[in-house]
Amino acid sequence: MKTLLLLACLVAAAYCVCNDNVESVLGKTQGTLYKFQSLISDQYRNREIDAEAAVLAGDELINYVNNNQQLWKAKKQRRFSMYKGENDKHKWGLMGVNHVRLSVKGKQHLSKTKDLDMDIPESFDSRENWPKCESIKAIRDQSSCGSCWAFGAVEAMSDRICIASHGELQVSLSADDLLSCCRSCGFGCNGGDPLAAWRYWVKDGIVTGSNFTANSGCKPYPFPPCEHHSKKTHFDPCPHDLYPTPKCEKRCNAEYTDKTYSEDKFYGSSAYGVKDDVEAIQKELMTHGPLEIAFEVYEDFLNYDGGVYVHTGGKLGGGHAVKLIGWGIEDGIPYWTVANSWNTDWGEDGFFRILRGVDECGIESGVVGGIPKLNSVSSRLHRHHRRHLHHQIDDDLE
Ligand SMILES: *[C@@H]1O[C@H](CO)[C@@H](O)[C@H](O)[C@H]1NC(C)=O
Repeated sequence: MKTLLLLACLVAAAYCVCNDNVESVLGKTQGTLYKFQSLISDQYRNREIDAEAAVLAGDELINYVNNNQQLWKAKKQRRFSMYKGENDKHKWGLMGVNHVRLSVKGKQHLSKTKDLDMDIPESFDSRENWPKCESIKAIRDQSSCGSCWAFGAVEAMSDRICIASHGELQVSLSADDLLSCCRSCGFGCNGGDPLAAWRYWVKDGIVTGSNFTANSGCKPYPFPPCEHHSKKTHFDPCPHDLYPTPKCEKRCNAEYTDKTYSEDKFYGSSAYGVKDDVEAIQKELMTHGPLEIAFEVYEDFLNYDGGVYVHTGGKLGGGHAVKLIGWGIEDGIPYWTVANSWNTDWGEDGFFRILRGVDECGIESGVVGGIPKLNSVSSRLHRHHRRHLHHQIDDDLE
């Protein structure tokens, strides 16, 4: 009997020990994972690009990228083949953002979502989280105009209107309206400032407008998308030189008779910067939807053809604005998922992924967004949705 008890005790003890082991093994795995991820970060943070690689261009650069790292693939992109070499000022004119990092002023009014207590999942994709919102999946084309700052803005604003209205308001805000009418934004097709674009939305509002092809809404985009690949159904190549900024027309296309220009406007209720911190950006994205982000474009990025982009070679060309839609981890490498405005032939069907956690090319330090003002279009909304929204964003509303 005693022996049996002893045996039972031993078994119980062994069981406990075993459990302890399971726990400590799990703990160790998690610890190792953290260590692994911070090793990845250490490896990329403050790294120096080979002096030789930093001046490469053309096929030499593409070969260098493909032979010296495995995170992403490079290939010659038709979109940029008409430009002459790495110093073509029209090519770099497409990167229409002067300062990719938030200004001191921008940092003074940061989104409060950074203080929310939220569980942050390992991966997140706005397209899956808000499947009703078609605009999140759309890829636009800025054509031969340095209007990326306007595209990143109207794309994210359109998504946020859909998200805030629980899928009831599906709009495509007009890149042309913002590009041509916002004077405080900068220089139209010669570049602009993302935060100023969101402020303009709050103050002046932005009308609807589709891409060039669909030609719908109040002010569709005036420039055609660019021909690439071998898809002959597409269009002529974009002109080499940048288009002049379109004139600010405060009326809708003649074919659009739904509403007047002022009736067609959608407004924001607030515009803000987001703290340059991975978790702060994740919380803001999960709460209100896609964001506009800016980063530095080097020659190698133009040749991106899939994978997790990490700057590897080539010269710095200029600042570019795009739309952040999610994040994930691939083979232990954390990344952001981003929508570009260079048509669906570029990158991963128009999207790209970039290393997350080391402020790669400034990608985490120029994040901006804002909240749509749904009461301006309240006739199409149910009351409880508005109440829900007020509750969610109380201190952001006027
Ligand atoms: C233009 O927009 C329409 C409607 O959103 C879309 O179906 C179409 O694929 C877009 N065309 C191009 C060339 O991007």
